[in-house]
Amino acid sequence: IKKMAEKTFKVVVTHPEVPQAGIDILKKSCEVILCESVPPKRSEILSKIKGVDGILWAGHEPLNGEVLDVAGKNLKAISTMSAGLDYVDLATLKQRKMPLGHTPGVLSEAVADMAIGLMISAARRYHEGRIKIETGAWDVHNLQWLLGQDIRGSTVGFFGFGGIGQAIAQRLRGFGVAKILYTARTEKAEAKDFKAKKVSFDELCEKSDFIFIAAPLTEETRHIFNECAFDKMQQNSVLVNIGRGPIVDQEALYHALKCNKIFAAGLDVMDPEPLPKDHKLLQLPNLILVPHLGSATLRTRSDMAVIAAHNVLRGIAGEPMLAPAYE
Ligand code: DGY
Repeated sequence: IKKMAEKTFKVVVTHPEVPQAGIDILKKSCEVILCESVPPKRSEILSKIKGVDGILWAGHEPLNGEVLDVAGKNLKAISTMSAGLDYVDLATLKQRKMPLGHTPGVLSEAVADMAIGLMISAARRYHEGRIKIETGAWDVHNLQWLLGQDIRGSTVGFFGFGGIGQAIAQRLRGFGVAKILYTARTEKAEAKDFKAKKVSFDELCEKSDFIFIAAPLTEETRHIFNECAFDKMQQNSVLVNIGRGPIVDQEALYHALKCNKIFAAGLDVMDPEPLPKDHKLLQLPNLILVPHLGSATLRTRSDMAVIAAHNVLRGIAGEPMLAPAYE
């Protein structure tokens, strides 16, 4: 810590748009080296990290053993500025005992807001409605026109019931939901606050009117929402994904929506990102697409930078990080 006060430590921030609040925290006790390219260029990052003490790794460039090798033996800590760690070679970093932090928690509220937005807009057919206006097909006479799904009285299923899932459930308290189900690797103590019942993945698919995907991408979760899962879901069901795109087999989702096997979906994350502008998913009227904006609010991004900066400083000082990626 004394050394930190003398600014002997060097920290690289891999993206020039990391909010100032995080940079200012680092600058109090370290020399900060900022990467300049947008999008981040791996070659620039690798050239700047040689010999540094800490890295604030912003963006989704692969974070792997190469980074540790290039940085060298001075490197004491890394923090990402994300909750998801799917672009990190966790096994290698852990095995090489590199302290690694991330920023869950602070983004749960913003992502939960996005999830509720997607739920309502998919269930109430916002996108289809807009297309009708644009094509001059607004039908004022038909009382059965563009009817949607009610949230009131519904069964809501969570695939993953951690901080984000629970923040969504918290918001749903005012909606008159009848039942909450969840699938997770472990029983969640908080589930009883929501009267949420742990069920198998099959039961989640079969019984839920709405499903929120709020889990990380792992080898276990990749493409778990596949043709077989969509076959189990109800025709009225609405799927919302604010986790990671590849948890859903997108080809299977396309067919499920096209053939009205399920009612609608709302995605903040997809596969690949960015989604090509001529992708067939964009042709579906019953699909709401948002370009990965879950944590994209001024306050949330700033809070993420602050947590990431503290993670790095604590890691350099040999103290526990605010949000370690592993023990
Ligand atoms: C996260 O933090 O994981 C968000 O999805 C942004 O990357």
